[in-house]
Amino acid sequence: MTRRHVELAQVAPWWVEAELQAAGPLAWGALFPACSGPVAVELGCGYGLFLRDLAALTPTRPFLGVEQDRGAALRAARKLMLAQSPNARVLAGDAFWAIHQLFRAGEVGDVYVNFPDPWPKRRHARRRYVRQPFVAELYQKMAPGHAVFLATDVAAYADEMELLFGGHPGFVGGRVAAKPVGVASKYELDFQAQGLTIHYLVYRVATAPLPAGAAAP
Ligand SMILES: C[S@@+](CC[C@H](N)C(=O)[O-])C[C@H]1O[C@@H](n2cnc3c(N)ncnc32)[C@H](O)[C@@H]1O
Repeated sequence: MTRRHVELAQVAPWWVEAELQAAGPLAWGALFPACSGPVAVELGCGYGLFLRDLAALTPTRPFLGVEQDRGAALRAARKLMLAQSPNARVLAGDAFWAIHQLFRAGEVGDVYVNFPDPWPKRRHARRRYVRQPFVAELYQKMAPGHAVFLATDVAAYADEMELLFGGHPGFVGGRVAAKPVGVASKYELDFQAQGLTIHYLVYRVATAPLPAGAAAP
């Protein structure tokens, strides 16, 4: 038995093995039978500190962490297991893919994006997942009134996020001066300890319909 298998078996109740599912949206109500409301999603959740602590604040609300690095995702699931979290799970996969493939319209609640990899070299910038198709996809899947919470230490990436979300007619919001969420991620704690500036942005899905002709692609 490999070490990974042991870890998977240990954390199974906190894990979503999406690759094994039939193509199409997951049955979120069945995955979180004791919870209600749309699923709050943390994208790029790393080792799961923020996910664990935020989920603990509202135990009846379902939370999903999405992390492309399987080893990190397993560590996040292990954190949830140690906390015996009743309302959070982790999925190993790509952020855009998860939102696009696994949710129906209105099934995504609040979305948290903490320190997405900035890919600072110009030729690598397209590897960033906070891009126009991602913003349009979030709008398609998020329930009205819910919000996207973004944090980055990279000023240029904050500018780009502001252009992307500010330029979408379905989102209202912008930069906020104070930290908007009551728990911190690992990178956030590290950057705070280093005294770095952290840029926070919050965009809420407008409850009014988009203006005619402004439908997102
Ligand atoms: C800089 S780390 C931040 C980790 C965590 N959010 C925090 O604030 O402590 C970025 C994380 O995003 C993950 N990531 C990068 N691109 C991703 C993608 N397309 N889909 C899912 N996760 C991604 C990385 O594997 C990494 O764990």
